[in-house]
Amino acid sequence: MRVLSGTQPSHDHLHIGNYFGALRQQVALQQKYQTLIFIADLHSMSGVRDAERRRRYSREVALDFLACGLDPAQAILFRQSDVPEVCELAWYLSTVTPMGLLERGHAYKDKLAQGQSATHGLFAYPVLMAADILLYRADLVPVGRDQKQHIEMARDMAEAFNRAYGAQVLTLPEPQILDDVAVVPGTDGRKMSKSYDNGIPMFATEKQIKKAVMGIVTDSTPVEDPKDTKATVFEIWTLFAAPDEREEMFERARAGGLGYGDVKKDLLRRLLAYFGPMRERRADLEKRPDEVESVLLDGAKRAREIGGPVLDEVRQAAGFRPRI
Ligand code: ADP
Ligand code: TRP
Repeated sequence: MRVLSGTQPSHDHLHIGNYFGALRQQVALQQKYQTLIFIADLHSMSGVRDAERRRRYSREVALDFLACGLDPAQAILFRQSDVPEVCELAWYLSTVTPMGLLERGHAYKDKLAQGQSATHGLFAYPVLMAADILLYRADLVPVGRDQKQHIEMARDMAEAFNRAYGAQVLTLPEPQILDDVAVVPGTDGRKMSKSYDNGIPMFATEKQIKKAVMGIVTDSTPVEDPKDTKATVFEIWTLFAAPDEREEMFERARAGGLGYGDVKKDLLRRLLAYFGPMRERRADLEKRPDEVESVLLDGAKRAREIGGPVLDEVRQAAGFRPRI
């Protein structure tokens, strides 16, 4: 079983929703399966048109994964652009991809609505994404629900290619939808999201984290009154508590006499303890960029060792000479 997932380098700071909703599960897979995690820097060209920003964001993604426990001895971490084979496969796939399939893509319309320019790259994004997956014969692709359609398109392209050349060279991937995990609420009670500015960052300064936690919106129930255990602050607090601790806290909340401020302070303490080792690892890695770079280069080498032979089979099926 081979697992693969990609992350666009499009952010500075992760929030705890990204961690509990995506990173934690992606990193955990490395113990069970051969796992490939890549930084989708070629994809980022549709939105980011600044070389320095792309370099910086790519570094951030690498640091985030390594800090959160991705172990380069187990998993393969690499930059998409370090594996040129993927662009070649994208071309082969594009020749069997019906226009209608791409025209039905939600992401293209959404991105246009968000103000991205209508380029061929943005339109053909699902083809490159299919190449990302099919090049490594990935079986399982853990992604957010918004990416489900892209995995279905990748399956369609794999089938179309196999059918066109009468060869079973490409493997059909299965999506694993990470949205099945609970949605982490933001400080304002809506879904935590970069776009709502309601996030609690895990790798910002302690001061910034404190500000976010203390800013969690609460109602004006007086301290002595019973509290609503469905309040956002309890929902977030629960992420950092064992089930028995949760029961105890909820009893105190229902009994009255517990202030939201105290819950927030306890949450902050737990949150910093939980992410402490990851924050340290990240700060440490940040001081050793050469080491991070060599992890990425080694990852690309290993990724090419998997993808190269697959591309060769594809080339031969289509009537081109093998390269290896
Ligand atoms: P954002 O909404 O902040 O822009 P992204 O869309 O970049 O986040 O999401 C990256 C990953 O993090 C996705 O797999 C998504 O499912 C997960 N994720 C984002 N926000 C949350 C949240 N509030 N709760 C759970 N998972 C989340
Ligand atoms: N499109 C994905 C996103 O925006 C990132 C991505 C690119 C990806 N290629 C992939 C995810 C291949 C999984 C597999 O989140």
